[in-house]
Amino acid sequence: MSQLLARGGRRLEGEVAVQGAKNSVLPILAATLLTGDQVELRGCPRLRDVDASIRILETLGCTARWEGTSLVVDTAGLKGWVISDVLMREMRSSAIFLGAILARCGRAEISYPGGCELGPRPIDLHLSGLRTLGTEIQESGGVLRCEAPRLSGECVVLSLPSVGATENLMLAACGAEGTTTIVGAALEPEILDLQNFLNACGAKVSGAGTSTVSIEGKRPLHGCSYEIMPDRVAAATYLCALAAAGGDIYLRRAREEHFAAVTAALREAGCEIEDDGQGIRCACNRRLQRVRPVRTAPYPGFPTDAQAVLMAALLRSQGATVFEETIFENRYRHVDELIRMGADIRTAGRVAVVAGVDRLHGAPVRCTDLRGGAALCVAALAAEGETAVGEISHIDRGYEDIARDLQALGADISRLDQ
Ligand code: EPZ
Repeated sequence: MSQLLARGGRRLEGEVAVQGAKNSVLPILAATLLTGDQVELRGCPRLRDVDASIRILETLGCTARWEGTSLVVDTAGLKGWVISDVLMREMRSSAIFLGAILARCGRAEISYPGGCELGPRPIDLHLSGLRTLGTEIQESGGVLRCEAPRLSGECVVLSLPSVGATENLMLAACGAEGTTTIVGAALEPEILDLQNFLNACGAKVSGAGTSTVSIEGKRPLHGCSYEIMPDRVAAATYLCALAAAGGDIYLRRAREEHFAAVTAALREAGCEIEDDGQGIRCACNRRLQRVRPVRTAPYPGFPTDAQAVLMAALLRSQGATVFEETIFENRYRHVDELIRMGADIRTAGRVAVVAGVDRLHGAPVRCTDLRGGAALCVAALAAEGETAVGEISHIDRGYEDIARDLQALGADISRLDQ
């Protein structure tokens, strides 16, 4: 099993280009089904979740090939509408393919995606919205059989701003007669990236980034060449690594507007951060201070995906910081691993209290999930001695090469493929 070996104590100096966003490219890969054409995705990150999406596209009769840092997808050959249980289990967000398959084929069959390491991951909002657009859904034996011979544009109200439900409904709505309005849509920047991609393919989508998204259905869509937005969670991860280790770094392509709640917390902790329009410079040359309670929330609130890495950055801060994880039920699985490194963290349900300690020590630790694994790497850069991070396949789901990027920023970290 591969692992990462990191030694702390070194200040970070350097610059790196931020990879394309995992949470943007996954729905866009599903959206390529709508075009029945060739699509070039520039700056597509090479991730395990992208590989899983490619396998789904190929199972459905489509093709995908890498051309340098671009992924070229051709969905003209789409002939299937079933995503197998094996593929659904590989990546929980495979449910995002449902809307696009329905729009193109009029039917779809997927196994229930079920939960993941973060806790239950229901898709009831996806399904109720698809029913509103005219989809018949039979659930039996863990399989969802969906029939939508004719999708019709309607007003769909989301009871909570689900990112995946918003994206799924945007894609299904492209195949509906008339206009669909999604009220209570998620505001995340990845929703706007999806809208921009769809419009580049000839769609007419508006309102992304606000709570009301409108989609004019049944427009003839075509392929395009599109650059994936930078990954704001990867950028947040590397800023937290800087905060943990100290130094002065530059992240090319990062845009502060995508994660201002994170940069606000890091500034409060004592980092200097500047977005020059091409990227973000971050410097920190003193012990971090505790910050006001961090409560995760839908965008533009503090992103749940950055909770673990900010926690790791604050392990040696002056004072204590309170975290409240409001989005997922089980997103503190990295805490026990951080405690093995000397962290002082207490959790009670959705609340975690991080009391800063003077020193952390390297230890053998293992990833429990994607962002928890990234947090272990951040903490390792602030620990004395060596940390061996195991189970790094979790990290590979969302980071192209976390060791490569942190090395570019001056960290002493390397990957050991065994
Ligand atoms: C997306 O997941 C992201 N994944 C997640 O990133 C991210 O944490 C999450 O949005 C929140 O920002 C991708 O984009 C691929 P949600 P998603 O639907 O769409 C509940 C990472 O680390 N809910 O906004 O699954 C749900 O249980 C990953 O990169 C329902 O109750 O998130 C959760 O509590 C992790 N019913 C909340 O809404 C539904 O039908 C937010 O979920 C759907 C969701």
